[in-house]
Amino acid sequence: MMVDDASGAWVVEVAINAAGPSPVEWTEWLWATLGDRGLVGIAEGEVSVSEAAEAGLVGSELVIDAAAAPRARDWVAELGAGPFRLWFDSETAAREAADALRVRSGCEVRSVGWQPRESDDAWRAGFAAIAVPGFGSVLPAWEDGQAMASAGDATIFIEPGIGFGTALHPTTQLCLAAVREWGGADGGGGRVLDFGSGSGVLGIAAAVVRADQVDAVEIDDAVHTAIRQNAARNGVTDRVAVSRYLPASGSGYDLVVANIVADVLLAHARTLCGSLRRNATGRPIGWLVLSGLRTEDLAAVSAGFEALLATQPRQTERDSWHCLVWPGGD
Ligand SMILES: C[S@@+](CC[C@H](N)C(=O)[O-])C[C@H]1O[C@@H](n2cnc3c(N)ncnc32)[C@H](O)[C@@H]1O
Repeated sequence: MMVDDASGAWVVEVAINAAGPSPVEWTEWLWATLGDRGLVGIAEGEVSVSEAAEAGLVGSELVIDAAAAPRARDWVAELGAGPFRLWFDSETAAREAADALRVRSGCEVRSVGWQPRESDDAWRAGFAAIAVPGFGSVLPAWEDGQAMASAGDATIFIEPGIGFGTALHPTTQLCLAAVREWGGADGGGGRVLDFGSGSGVLGIAAAVVRADQVDAVEIDDAVHTAIRQNAARNGVTDRVAVSRYLPASGSGYDLVVANIVADVLLAHARTLCGSLRRNATGRPIGWLVLSGLRTEDLAAVSAGFEALLATQPRQTERDSWHCLVWPGGD
């Protein structure tokens, strides 16, 4: 029986034995075996950060996941076990696949059933406007209105669900407040580097409050389209360029903002500091804003960047997450 795939799908849930092939090998095998037999999607299960920490894959239960990170950096994919949900375009395909999987060692078929798709309205009801202290508001993309920035307030629109950066996370909020402060500082226009752009929220905010050119750098190609769509929703398409790679040192940015885990920040410290606009004596006059930092990261990240910038940062904090701000000089 064929089904209306807009209303749902037939789903086979399978538990994978941790001692067997890796999730990546399983995924490849499943597509090779069932791809032309009605398989339309694979969900690799949900793994909590606590489980990843217990498995020794991340140092802290509070680490920020890179969302849909490329395979080489996807610690969730490194876990040896987990439920797979296989989506099929018909009941027949689902039941035949379940029979084939039942005789394969290393996996256990847990269930076969129809799963209705959540309606758009139900999904959207889970998102609301977010008031960000020191910035203004971040609204879901489907809300009415236009992005704007005035002396005391800013409003931007972001599509939730694709790429980290709905503005719910404290680190995004700390960066947004710093971006807004930069926007209100002397001077109009300006060039901005948004390193680890996710949904594009920080670079788009910078464009709305002041910048006339933003380079949004995001390693995960899968969210590049979302960044462009978010830029369009905020009316700043012509000011936001999306790339996978950091520009070379010496780019002369008026603001560099990076909300990424400490290791990545430190690995790119020299390039990020070298990208700031400098005055005639070579002193950085662009602003640097770093977040994604737990308390235990502060000393190392602060010291690493202080050594390159020869000044101490200001610190802001929310819910035990931290942000370091080096406001540019004259
Ligand atoms: C914590 S999210 C921040 C997203 C958004 N800027 C915000 O503040 O909400 C970090 C982002 O950095 C990206 N990322 C991690 N390592 C990166 C790298 N080496 N180069 C570019 N992007 C990277 C991740 O894929 C993720 O989208």
